[in-house]
Amino acid sequence: MKVVELNHPLIEHKLAILRDKKTGTKEFRELVSEIASILCYEALRDAKLTPVEIETPLEKMKTNKLNENYYVFIPILRAGMGMLDGVIKIVPNAKIGHIGMYRDEKTAKPINYYFKVPNGIKNKEVIIIDPMLATGGSAVDAIDLLKEKGVKKIKFLCIISTKEGIDNIKKKHKDVDIYTAHIDERLNEKKYICPGLGDAGDRIYGTK
Ligand code: PRP
Ligand code: URA
Repeated sequence: MKVVELNHPLIEHKLAILRDKKTGTKEFRELVSEIASILCYEALRDAKLTPVEIETPLEKMKTNKLNENYYVFIPILRAGMGMLDGVIKIVPNAKIGHIGMYRDEKTAKPINYYFKVPNGIKNKEVIIIDPMLATGGSAVDAIDLLKEKGVKKIKFLCIISTKEGIDNIKKKHKDVDIYTAHIDERLNEKKYICPGLGDAGDRIYGTK
């Protein structure tokens, strides 16, 4: 299992703005999308290319292209939707599925309310997107649901994560690689990530 934490001064800079409670909805959305593009770029470092022959304005050449149809992005609703346009910018012809989950406010356990994925998903690479990996409960359940559909290749992209969340994915799904912009220190008593950025869904949609 690979855990890739983006380690770059620009990411630290962008995260500082994202985390700041004074940052408004517009800028928050733009940054979530931008960081999602960068995570996606990292996650596709191992992408297999197909040889093609093209013609430049000067001459023919043999080169390689990505089979974009091989990829399926799956946002975990709601907050995962905030990352979708960022990843689609990188792989515009990828397919998209949706998994609806919310954490019960008292128990912090995930409740699944929606599941819709493209046909033929078991032969595709699935990239789950969700800005927050806190306890890991939502991620583990989403991966369970996808594996039940026969999916064999899964990656998980998140902006802020915790060691606890990563360890919980590792325990059950050590074949899933994780790409995260930052691993934060801890969870508080309400299972929110600290220092974190607050409730990602509420900040993206301006619901609180
Ligand atoms: C957030 C977040 C993850 C989940 C992470 O969603 O977007 O899906 O919590 O927590 P976990 O790792 O402890 O499961 P939330 O339940 O707040 O729903 P929302 O996206 O609808 O706001
Ligand atoms: N979900 C969020 O949006 N933020 C957290 O810190 C934890 C779960």
